[in-house]
Amino acid sequence: MTTPTSDDYIVRAIRPDDWTAVKRLRLDALRDPVAHLAFLETYEDAAAKPDAFWQERAIGSGERSESARQIIAETPDGTWAGSVTVLIEEAGSEDWAGYPVERRQGHVVGVFVRPEHRGNGLIKTLFDAGVTWAWQQGAERIRLFVHADNTRAQGAYRKVGFAPSGVAVAFSKDEAESELEFVLERPL
Ligand SMILES: CC(C)(COP(=O)(O)OP(=O)(O)OC[C@H]1O[C@@H](n2cnc3c(N)ncnc32)[C@H](O)[C@@H]1OP(=O)(O)O)[C@@H](O)C(=O)NCCC(=O)NCCS
Repeated sequence: MTTPTSDDYIVRAIRPDDWTAVKRLRLDALRDPVAHLAFLETYEDAAAKPDAFWQERAIGSGERSESARQIIAETPDGTWAGSVTVLIEEAGSEDWAGYPVERRQGHVVGVFVRPEHRGNGLIKTLFDAGVTWAWQQGAERIRLFVHADNTRAQGAYRKVGFAPSGVAVAFSKDEAESELEFVLERPL
């Protein structure tokens, strides 16, 4: 098989009837060799969730939601090659760690590309779709957190325009380790 290029994918928001594929991709991501750095959830915790959880996620982060959007890349044979999810954080709210959110912003989570689809530009295509949606929702900046040791992900984020903000937070699975905030400011 030839290596796919970023033109070979359909990139779109998830839909309610996608919930089994949402679950499958997430469980595969949680078995990635770097999952312990990349994701806070464990495979066992995700696998134990009831169908209703995935059904609600496919709606709550789906094409009709204004507060979250999961974007996936589908190959011509229907395989899901990767995904990013953008959450909207409202100004005046508190973030998941209890810190105040000063500006309406996007927060990118759940970034995963299957190994056989890495290094071909797909991650940029996924981010472009997520970033465009966040600007459409009125976000003034977009941020994400990446483990200090996850150098490949950091390389990918730099390539799509994100830069470290200087903020570092303790990694919740091991407070001796840290996660770095990367930010993309809205163009003027
Ligand atoms: C993170 C991820 C989505 C990035 O997608 P990708 O297709 O692998 O990214 P790319 O290959 O386009 O970009 C990575 C960049 O980092 C570089 N890189 C690769 N391994 C590296 C390493 N060990 N150290 C430093 N840089 C590295 C690559 O060379 C590339 O830069 P280049 O194109 O200038 O050469 C993908 O690797 C993945 O799914 N990883 C597992 C899950 C994960 O870590 N998610 C992120 C959670 S924050």
